[in-house]
Amino acid sequence: MANYNDHIVFSVSGSEQFANSLQEKLNAVEGRYEARSFPDGESYVRVLSEVNGKFAVVVCSLSRPNERMMPLYFLGRALSDLRARHICLVAPYLAYMRQDKVFLPGEAITSSYFAEFVSSFADSILTADPHLHRRDSLSEIYPIPNTVVRTAGEISSWIKGNVEKPLLVGPDSESEQWVSEVAQKAGARFTVLQKTRTGDREVEVSMPEIDDVRDHTPVLVDDIVSTARTMIETTKNLMELGMRRPICIGVHAVFADDAYEELLASGVEKVITSNTIAHISNAIDVSALFADALKQQHLKGEKHGS
Ligand code: R5P
Repeated sequence: MANYNDHIVFSVSGSEQFANSLQEKLNAVEGRYEARSFPDGESYVRVLSEVNGKFAVVVCSLSRPNERMMPLYFLGRALSDLRARHICLVAPYLAYMRQDKVFLPGEAITSSYFAEFVSSFADSILTADPHLHRRDSLSEIYPIPNTVVRTAGEISSWIKGNVEKPLLVGPDSESEQWVSEVAQKAGARFTVLQKTRTGDREVEVSMPEIDDVRDHTPVLVDDIVSTARTMIETTKNLMELGMRRPICIGVHAVFADDAYEELLASGVEKVITSNTIAHISNAIDVSALFADALKQQHLKGEKHGS
């Protein structure tokens, strides 16, 4: 097994399991640091490992980003001061991708501002299925090199191994990019619905055409499950049409407040997510995709002599 022992892997709160898995797959070194909050809430960070000249991989899944960003920023800055040769932020879930334009006068375009902030302390970023809606690529907002892994292959394998006669359902137009790829890889049919959101928790989803697929198992596929209203409303519609209880698959298990419990209670068969955010519903491990991407980055780096 190749040894990436100039790679040193740090994890920021909540990403320990994902970081361990990456570290094992790369046969890399564990990065040690101390992080705590002072009584007044300010953050303290102290790097304990030797990082001079090393390739630092900082794993931080960015759900609930506001509480994670200051420790992450301080860690990134300290690694840089200690002369790590490269700081790669591995953010299996990348936050602040949805506010990508001004809808009401005066609104902050948080996706752009957040990208600038991250790019101020990381040299590159690696993530999975970022929520690209009105943008074609991360490079439009991230000035640093970025790599995006796609989880469609892993999701379609899970569907092939676990669901008979699946009908994939994308709840809104943005989901088409994921659902069509997953359906194609799983050799399954798919349909994409229309969604209207009128508030954080107010969502309407159109009814699917199901005449010739009544005997199929609906599998809802979406990138983010946050309040779960999108999946709950879609489930209600499918049940109203007399379809089987759906299986819900989300790439990123954001689950605000009681969203997971509410989704489970809404009539679904089961809820499955990838492990880009650690959650009880994780059933699809995507860490190998990240390890492969880092290995590729390493090879390219060697080729270019850096
Ligand atoms: C946005 O369009 C995303 O693709 C998801 O559909 C959305 O974030 C889901 O949000 P919620 O779970 O709050 O309905």
